[in-house]
Amino acid sequence: MLKIGVLASGRGSNFQAVLDAIKAGKIKSEIKVLISDKANAFALERAKQNGIEALHISAKAFPSMDEYFVAVAEELKKRDIGLVLLAGFMRIVRRPLLDAFPWKVMNIHPALLPSFPGLHGQQQAVDYGARISGCTVHFVDAGMDTGPVIIQAAVACNADDTEDTLSERILKYEHIIYPEAVRLFAEGRLDVKGRKVFIKDSRPYPTDAIINPPVE
Ligand code: GRF
Repeated sequence: MLKIGVLASGRGSNFQAVLDAIKAGKIKSEIKVLISDKANAFALERAKQNGIEALHISAKAFPSMDEYFVAVAEELKKRDIGLVLLAGFMRIVRRPLLDAFPWKVMNIHPALLPSFPGLHGQQQAVDYGARISGCTVHFVDAGMDTGPVIIQAAVACNADDTEDTLSERILKYEHIIYPEAVRLFAEGRLDVKGRKVFIKDSRPYPTDAIINPPVE
């Protein structure tokens, strides 16, 4: 069975969403370890409450970020991890981790990439006056939110939206599409070819309307 490792820096609601989907029997996998770079991350608490090993590995203890990610990759390898999930992990992942887990690191971003990468994707959409934004699950490459897209979901934006109102609307969809992407991976249905992710045996997306992915 697929063993998952999660990296998180904050509250960990996406970690919780994946965990809930596993508990509900929707994803055949197990979260083995939650690693945080922040000692006070609520995600560490969530892990403990759910009987999942919680590790705090501070980047400050390492002379460089490359060495930090060597250490993180070692901890993940030790536990035979087959998929690494970034869930509000506030650091750019470096080569040592990516090379140890080729196309096995996923991230969720709160905008429709390639629009609004980096920090505060929701605020960027509000400031730009976008009418549609959303969220993206993608495989992680060495760039900033540039890896191959797995699933996206769209939400409407209104001119009077604030970062908070839009974030709340987007977060609901994050909690749907992240577990969905993990499920597809666990079922061995994701194939990366160049920039594109092919999903085996999936229903095609309707092309005549802006519509969210068929979830199943
Ligand atoms: C989410 O908005 C996610 O898209 C972004 O960071 C936030 C993390 O939230 N990468 P949580 O810690 O999963 O609640």
